Amino acid sequence: MSDTDALREVARRLRAATRVMALTGAGISAESGVPTFRGPDGLWRNFRATDLATPGAFARDPALVWEWYRWRRSRIRDARPNPGHLVLARFERRWPALTLATQNVDGLHTQAGSRRLLELHGNIWRARCAARCGRTVIQDVDGAAAPGTAPDAGVPLCACGGWMRPDIVWFGEALDDGILSRTLDEAAASDALLVVGTSSVVYPAAALPGLARQHGAMIVEVNVEDTPLTGAADFVLRGPAGEVLPALEALL
Ligand code: OAD
Repeated sequence: MSDTDALREVARRLRAATRVMALTGAGISAESGVPTFRGPDGLWRNFRATDLATPGAFARDPALVWEWYRWRRSRIRDARPNPGHLVLARFERRWPALTLATQNVDGLHTQAGSRRLLELHGNIWRARCAARCGRTVIQDVDGAAAPGTAPDAGVPLCACGGWMRPDIVWFGEALDDGILSRTLDEAAASDALLVVGTSSVVYPAAALPGLARQHGAMIVEVNVEDTPLTGAADFVLRGPAGEVLPALEALL
């Protein structure tokens, strides 16, 4: 099937769908200038993201981990949603029950206007107490001074005296129970799942297409290259999300 035929067929089936879900990864934000994790920009100094986004790295050197997140925030502070984010936000008007599960922590889906959003891996602009005392959550880590140390001076401290940490789900950590169970329920109930800009290697997000498919959903992958999902997807729309999603929307 040619790319154009695949796009037409996906649009035809989406028109008949009532429960649509989308799962996004770093690739949807690439055209907004946000580096992907496994792409060439994924390195900071000589560290890989996968070596710093861990509870062990934070326990060993919290200042280093904060410095890395400060750098990441500075790289994306001026990023704005691209046409891919905007199409997914508009899809909520067409399918009011649409759920968007994202592995991204950049906040661009919210900026684009998505409301039924499940942030599986947290949010880079938020911080919380590492000791989970529940007393302090910072919504805008660069905007508001933390109760203890200023955010730009090493490791912010919670009112309880413990360290604050970025409100991110790190490797080896469990996803928030409530968010995960809503995500799994939505995947099982969906008629169609759009999997956009993810390498489909990080679980449990990578298990969602399999779950949705078991329950009868059509799986559509939007990506610039092959992933472990490609062979199992019903349709593959090859190309940048910021071009493919507007082209799909135009056919709906
Ligand atoms: P990755 O960096 O692993 O994968 C990005 C995917 O986007 C790749 O498959 C690219 O081919 C694709 N891509 C790049 N540009 C694109 C574009 N313009 N349009 C469409 N696709 C494009 O990022 P994730 O899959 O999001 O976890 O990574 C999953 C998780 O691993 C992240 O949430 C993060 C990471 O380490 C944590 O931090 C816990």
